[in-house]
Amino acid sequence: MGLFLTLGVLAPALWRLSFPLVLAVPSSTFTASSPVDVVLGKNERARFEQQLVRKAVAGRGYTWQEYVRWGRQLVESGQVSDPPEGAILSRPLSERYRCLHCHNVQREDVRLTVQDPETRERLIRQLGPTDPARLDSATLRLTTGTTLWGAVNRESFYNGHYARYRNQTLADGKPMNPFRLADAIQVCCRFCSGGRYPTEWELDALLAYHWELELRLRDLDFSAEELDNLLRSLNSGNLTETTSARAQIRRRLLTVSAATKGQVPVRCEGDTDFYADGSRIVGDAKRGRLVYESACAGCHGNVINSLSGKALLQDDRRFHHFIREGTERDGLYMPLFTLERLSRPQVADVRAYLRSLPR
Ligand code: HEC
Ligand code: HEC
Repeated sequence: MGLFLTLGVLAPALWRLSFPLVLAVPSSTFTASSPVDVVLGKNERARFEQQLVRKAVAGRGYTWQEYVRWGRQLVESGQVSDPPEGAILSRPLSERYRCLHCHNVQREDVRLTVQDPETRERLIRQLGPTDPARLDSATLRLTTGTTLWGAVNRESFYNGHYARYRNQTLADGKPMNPFRLADAIQVCCRFCSGGRYPTEWELDALLAYHWELELRLRDLDFSAEELDNLLRSLNSGNLTETTSARAQIRRRLLTVSAATKGQVPVRCEGDTDFYADGSRIVGDAKRGRLVYESACAGCHGNVINSLSGKALLQDDRRFHHFIREGTERDGLYMPLFTLERLSRPQVADVRAYLRSLPR
């Protein structure tokens, strides 16, 4: 009884005590964990989230978490085990491809704004001994597409060499808007994945999952000191300081993922590739093994394309042609590797590795 009374008296007092403390911190206080979208004053996620939870699918509303879970399933396996409408197992987005065949979902570059496949390869080697070809969200691989991590923070899609995909149409027949992530996703589902357009709830789910992969201030490559200064400016309430801090943040973001087309060598001799610009690259079979497993094995030697290993090297030029030009068949195709995804030495290493395999 005594204890009950004491607590009963104390609780409101504690509440009153803590309340001014909470208020003293304005709601717009930024920390290293603040989402970049919020720090830049865009708040696109909040707007999308509000819209989404008000929507109904087959007469029922769903939570943000439910959309995120479906989105993750769509990215990882192409279908959803408990869809809001339709069959128990939703129809796959593509018969063969999953997003993970061509995209990572985690950080892939040591410095966000430096898209370097060789540093990426070193990172994969450091991450260690798991099967480098494993197609799960946890395995970082050398993929043809840019990571989906931070895609919501990019400002335009299908850039560089891929700008030619911008004339693709969406499900409603309209041309894609290269500044809208939702449009890029639709184009990728239909054309890159050789599948179908996502339905409305599927697209919403994919977008919700992409928002779970948004960047936070601490993900940008600022030193502790730079971050401190930025946070001081952002929390100063001063417009000039905030504006300059935001400009600095945008410079550390990968707002545009570059895509530079690579060349096919003019000649190959042994493990050496000769390029038209005079460069001469000697492959290293030992290094090539990991590159092959990480970049090629997910699609080769299985249901997507039965050829694998030595069988891919019937002809040196054909080998290079597929890597740098890909194929553009509607349906199942091999996407090319741009220089941001595979360097000349890496391609030489794969060829040397395949050459070293027994017949
Ligand atoms: C067969 C390979 C392949 C598959 C499968 C695939 N993509 Fe892509 N995707 C690409 C390529 C190549 C690009 C070109 C631009 C880039 O990412 O570098 C791209 C671009 C994108 C972009 C725009 C990225 C940017 O910054 O320009 C998004 C978003 C995207 N894909 C989402 C998805 C989603 C979601 C899925 C699964 C439903 C998927 N993709 C499946 C290959 C693929
Ligand atoms: C996203 C899936 C995917 C990835 C990744 C991929 N390929 Fe392919 N590859 C294919 C498909 C599908 C074909 C068949 C294309 C066709 O028939 O039009 C193919 C065909 C090829 C061919 C032509 C084989 C022949 O002679 O018919 C070569 C060579 C090749 N790939 C090499 C590679 C190498 C080397 C890598 C890694 C650096 C790689 N591929 C990565 C999907 C992929």
